[in-house]
Amino acid sequence: SELDLAKLLEFSISLAKEAGELISQGSDAILSSEADEVDDKKNSVDLVTKYDKAVEELVNQRIKKAYPTFAFVGEEGTSASGSLPVFTDEPTFCVDPIDGTTNFVHGFPFSVISIGLIYKKRAVLGVIFNPFLDWLYYATEGNGAWLVKAGGSPTKLPLHPPRPLPSLSKALIAVEWGSDRSAKAIQARADSFSRLAGDGKEVQGGKMAHSLRSIGSAAMNFAMVASGQLDIYWEIGCWPWDVAAGIVIVQEAGGLFNTSDLSLHNGEVTGDSTDKVLTGRKYIAIRPISDAKAEKGKETQKRLVKEFCE
Ligand code: IPD
Repeated sequence: SELDLAKLLEFSISLAKEAGELISQGSDAILSSEADEVDDKKNSVDLVTKYDKAVEELVNQRIKKAYPTFAFVGEEGTSASGSLPVFTDEPTFCVDPIDGTTNFVHGFPFSVISIGLIYKKRAVLGVIFNPFLDWLYYATEGNGAWLVKAGGSPTKLPLHPPRPLPSLSKALIAVEWGSDRSAKAIQARADSFSRLAGDGKEVQGGKMAHSLRSIGSAAMNFAMVASGQLDIYWEIGCWPWDVAAGIVIVQEAGGLFNTSDLSLHNGEVTGDSTDKVLTGRKYIAIRPISDAKAEKGKETQKRLVKEFCE
């Protein structure tokens, strides 16, 4: 059976708003509590709070009631098992109750709920809501990507007419530090960051991008790439719930989303949103790009992915 995406979108938006209230209340509670309410998962920088669990529980319950036959993959239920979820052809809600948990415990206002819907292993609907800024991003396949700021009217993404992006050296690039803080992992990231930010004189292959940013929420990074506020987002170590909604929002805005591990696609830049991309754990997103012809824009995006991966 085909899905009623319009109805599913309405449901997901109202769910994201309800969850957003719980996230805001949780934030007030956690910031004013004298007790340490933060638990470690894998290590002391991979965090979870009772609010992550409560929000996931709320979302799971609401989905069970409204769509009892749909599958559910949530960060807190799944990452406890330590392995990647297996997606089937069934409609599957893929949810990060609080993406940006570190931000959440510090009161840095970039924590969101991310609700994605996967159908036949493709991401077809995405809703990302930041309750601190009251910014709501959403997209369904074929209907563009939209932002609603503080209850205003929907603005189509990207926010401004897309500009060309001739090379990485003109880019504002989002990267993240991740939760693997072993010397080896951190050194590898720091080397990549030096290569991106450095001028190439001492750093082999330096690209000297305009700058790098780390805002601490994968979903927010995707939303800002779709908006055109960031040119590129690159990360190794994301999980499906971090990206499921972002994929649809980036692609519907005219951006390119790909696994940055080109070996997964035999060296091909696909811009695909299939199961392989969802479970690849290495991602790159490029903002919408204008060029004389749309096709030329797509080629530029693909060239940038290659430039990045080399
Ligand atoms: C994490 C954040 C972080 C990103 C990680 C995600 P969480 O999600 O989005 O910015 O670097 O890859 O796992 O743990 O805060 O839900």
